[in-house]
Amino acid sequence: MNIIVNVDKNWAIGRGGALLFPIAADLQNFKRLTLHKVVVMGRKTLESLPGGKPLKERLNVVLSASMSETEGLYICHSIDEMQQLFLTEPFSGFTTDDVFVIGGETVYRQLLPLCSKAYITKVEAAAGEPDVFFPNIDSMKEWRITGTSDRFFQSETAYRFFTYQRI
Ligand SMILES: NC(=O)c1ccc[n+]([C@@H]2O[C@H](COP(=O)([O-])OP(=O)(O)OC[C@H]3O[C@@H](n4cnc5c(N)ncnc54)[C@H](OP(=O)(O)O)[C@@H]3O)[C@@H](O)[C@H]2O)c1
Repeated sequence: MNIIVNVDKNWAIGRGGALLFPIAADLQNFKRLTLHKVVVMGRKTLESLPGGKPLKERLNVVLSASMSETEGLYICHSIDEMQQLFLTEPFSGFTTDDVFVIGGETVYRQLLPLCSKAYITKVEAAAGEPDVFFPNIDSMKEWRITGTSDRFFQSETAYRFFTYQRI
């Protein structure tokens, strides 16, 4: 599985149920990588999407103990249930390389150990009063940076795309 996330310089990822740095080119990159693939998210991240609706042209898997069946989504009540789901027919054309974990904090923390690749957009700024974070994988010896983009800007905000691989 893959992780995809946008972090600030302190590994913060959100505040009040919203993204910290919605950068247009980053959102386009997210779309390019995840289109026609499987995305896995927590219930709060689903609620943060436009209209609280699943992402179009992707198989949307939502982890939630509280939600019941919802059109356009696969609800899983546990990680085990998610893994069973991946063995069923709708997912038969996909491999684990086609699965993208898209947040939020609780889901990243649980699924990072099961992921082998991470697409991390690092913003060179510190957001004020964030309330959710991604673990600092630069301090984890099992992860290595395998790709670094040029430095891009949206207005004053500098950022780079990094690719990490589990070794
Ligand atoms: N910067 C980024 O790239 C990025 C990406 C995504 C999200 N975010 C931000 O992250 C924040 C949301 O993150 P969050 O950590 O608060 O919430 P979250 O991980 O999106 O959702 C948490 C919910 O997921 C469900 N859940 C998690 N693990 C589960 C499990 N093993 N089994 C069953 N259900 C499970 C639970 O739902 P129930 O309560 O329904 O049981 C839990 O309350 C928002 O601010 C969002 O904007 C940032």
